[in-house]
Amino acid sequence: MLVSAKEMLQKAKAGHYAVGQFNINNLEWTKAILATAQELNSPVILGVSEGAGKYMAGYKTIVGMVNGMLEEMKITVPVALHLDHGSYDACYKCIEAGFSSIMFDGSHLPIEENIEKTKELVKICAEKGMSLEAEVGSIGGEEDGVVGMGECADPEECKKIADLGVDMLAAGIGNIHGVYPDNWKGLSFETLAAVQEKTGTMPLVLHGGTGIPDEQVKKAIDLGVSKINVNTECQLVFAAATREYIEAGKDRQGKGFDPRKLLLPGTEAIKAKVKEKMELFGSVGKA
Ligand code: 13P
Repeated sequence: MLVSAKEMLQKAKAGHYAVGQFNINNLEWTKAILATAQELNSPVILGVSEGAGKYMAGYKTIVGMVNGMLEEMKITVPVALHLDHGSYDACYKCIEAGFSSIMFDGSHLPIEENIEKTKELVKICAEKGMSLEAEVGSIGGEEDGVVGMGECADPEECKKIADLGVDMLAAGIGNIHGVYPDNWKGLSFETLAAVQEKTGTMPLVLHGGTGIPDEQVKKAIDLGVSKINVNTECQLVFAAATREYIEAGKDRQGKGFDPRKLLLPGTEAIKAKVKEKMELFGSVGKA
């Protein structure tokens, strides 16, 4: 059964480790992440962006697939199905579809509007037993080929949003989605420490997990980060493993064109990447 991310993140915060949110794109991704979490006895959060939701034929399809896997694969570790960077409308769609967690990304809205909408969603999520993530200070990334540097959140604004009763808070600390540019200055630990001081026991979320050096990840966990989002890194290893298979001509040998064979190296590569991250985040054995 899907669970809210609330309890797993409170435990992570208290235990000084982080739970990984791995974004899913299809059946292979989902299966690889769930199998690894079970094997390592780790809690896990499956992230679904609005784009990935459309790609997988809608939120209800995803809920059906994930619930089916939990049962058929006999998954017993805590699993949350979480909307990633949701608009107000997408949040409602996921609540209705049976997600167990949502992120309302109101970071681009004026703070008053972000507060109003977040408040409304706090109430609904509490009624439904779902967890809610909010964001302050937008997290940069590549848009139309231009890589924006990550903003740093205002700790006072973070406190305002945290006090509304959300379960986890994403604060921009110079992190960005996708591969970091060569001239990236690294995470702002000064901002993270200030946000942590204002928000106390609130689990903090680090987006843009791809390519952050291990030492910075560990320091971020020490300073209060309890959830780390990883997407691009799984995509990169999946693509590289698939490329290798095809470039070696394996799809032309025997029945190597069978999707169950063709997609296997990529799926195995995702498993290895998820394992590496769970070990780094310290969530192994914490289910
Ligand atoms: P990356 O794609 O950089 O790993 O970021 C993932 C993320 O933060 C999803 O919200």
